[in-house]
Amino acid sequence: MVSRVIPVKAFDLVVFGGTGDLARRKILPSLFRRFVAGQMPDNAHVIGVARSEFDTSGYQDLVIAALQEFEPELSASGELKSFIKQIQYVQIDAQGDLGWSDLAEIVRKDAIQAFYFSVSPSLFGPLAEKLHQYSISSKSSRIVLEKPFGRDLNSARALNAVLKEHFSEEQIYRIDHYLGKETVQNLMAVRFGNMLFEPLWNSQYIDHIQVTVAESVGVEGRGSYYDQAGAMRDMVQNHLMQLLCLIAMEPPAKFSPDAVRDEKLKVIRALDPINSKDIVRGQYSAVGTEKGYLEAVENPRSKTESFIALKVQISNWRWAGTPFYLRTGKKLKARCSEIAVVFKETPHSIFGPDAGSHRNALVIRLQPDEGMTMDLTIKEPGPGGMRLIDVPLDMTFAEALGPEIGAVPDAYERLIMDVIRGNQTLFMRGDEVEAAWSWTDPVINQWVSKGTSPISYDAGSSGPEDSMMLMHKDGRKWREIS
Ligand code: BG6
Repeated sequence: MVSRVIPVKAFDLVVFGGTGDLARRKILPSLFRRFVAGQMPDNAHVIGVARSEFDTSGYQDLVIAALQEFEPELSASGELKSFIKQIQYVQIDAQGDLGWSDLAEIVRKDAIQAFYFSVSPSLFGPLAEKLHQYSISSKSSRIVLEKPFGRDLNSARALNAVLKEHFSEEQIYRIDHYLGKETVQNLMAVRFGNMLFEPLWNSQYIDHIQVTVAESVGVEGRGSYYDQAGAMRDMVQNHLMQLLCLIAMEPPAKFSPDAVRDEKLKVIRALDPINSKDIVRGQYSAVGTEKGYLEAVENPRSKTESFIALKVQISNWRWAGTPFYLRTGKKLKARCSEIAVVFKETPHSIFGPDAGSHRNALVIRLQPDEGMTMDLTIKEPGPGGMRLIDVPLDMTFAEALGPEIGAVPDAYERLIMDVIRGNQTLFMRGDEVEAAWSWTDPVINQWVSKGTSPISYDAGSSGPEDSMMLMHKDGRKWREIS
C-alpha cells in the first residue's frame, strides 16, 4: 500500500523560538521529512526567528546539527542540502523593535503565511501585537500555538482574549500533538468507518473504558515547568481529555473542523465533577541510582504529582453508568499508551460457572507498536471439555499495512501540513480549551485547598498501589503496563 503525498502550496512558516528545543527536536525534523516525502514544495520558506544573534548561514548550521542529531539517516542523504536552502533567519526582540521590519520584508504577501509561536505563552500577546503593528500578518495568516494554553480557566481566557484582538478563531491553531498521532486519528476511523462498533458503543454493552498514557522517562530537564504543572495540567487537561473526547463523542455529521469540535465540546461539558475518592495522585521516589521526583525538580517540598489516576463519569444517554478510568505518569515501568474498551460479560453463560468470566476488549495501542487487538473468547483447544480462554485478534499497523507505508509519521508532520492546508480539525478550539479548564480547575483546587501530598511510588513501577484499588473496589482491573 503506498501513501499518497500531495504537495501543499507555497508557504512562509515563521518559527518564533526557532533556536529552541521544540524547533530542533520536532518542528524542523518534521518539515525536513515532509520535504523529503515531496510534500513541502521548493518555493516554501522556513524562517527561524529568535533573540540569538545569528545570520542565516549560522542558523542553517544550527538546523543541520539538529537534523543530524534527530534525523540522522535522512540527513545523510543529498536532500539536506536542498532543504537547507529554504531556511532563513531573522533576529528579533519580541517586545522591542529589533528585527520586525526585516521580518516584514521577508514574509511574502502572495504565499500562505503561518506564524508558529514556539515560545512562552507570556509572549503570545506581544507577538500577535507586533505582527499586526508591522503589517506582517493579514486576515488569511495562521498562528500556531503550543501548550500549555494557560494554567487554569482564567489564564486561558486571558490568552484567548489577547489573541482575538488581532486574529479570528479560524486563524488560530492550538496544538495538542496527541491529535496528530496516527493512531489517535485511527480511533475516529475505527469508530466512524466501521458498522461493527457503533451499535455496541454505549453503556448498554461497554462495561468501562481505560486510558493509560505511561511514560518511562522522568521530568527530563523540564523540572521547573513540570513542578508548576503536574500530571493533571501537563497531560490530563489536554492529551487524555482529547482521547476521552474522541472515544466518547457522538458521530459528527461530517469530518469537518467545527462538526468534530462541537461534538468534543459536548463531551467535556457532560463530564461530572470528580469526587476526591476517585483521584489518586502519586510522586515517584528514588530507586537505586535513579533520582526521585523531588531531587529531579530540585524542590524537596514539592506536592506536585508525577502520576494521576482518575475515575471519570460522563452524564449523558450514551455513557451514564460506564466509567472511564484514566491514568498517566512518569517513571513508570514502560512506555505504553493505550485505550481499552472493555465490554460487558454475556448476560448468561450457557457454559456454566466453570467457564469463568470473560469480557471482550478492544485495545487501541497508541505507542509503541501502534495497532489494535480485539480480545475474543474461544474454546481452549483439547479434549478436556468446554473450557474458555480469551485470545487477541492482533493487528499491528506496520505489519498489516506493509513496509511501503514506512514509519508512522510524527504527529508534528501531520499537524504542520494541516496548518498550511488550512484544516483545523485536529486543533483545539478556544471554547474547547476553556471547557477543559473549567472541568480541571475544581479538581486541582480540591487538593490545593486541602494541601494534600501525592503518594510515593517507586520509579519503574506501575504507580501507587492505591491506583490499583481505584479499580479493584469497583471489581475491575487495570491492564498491565508493558
Ligand atoms: C507533552 C508533555 O505534552 O507530552 C510531556 O508536556 C510528555 O510531559 C509528552 O512527556 C508526551 O508525549 P508523547 O508523544 O511522547 O507521548
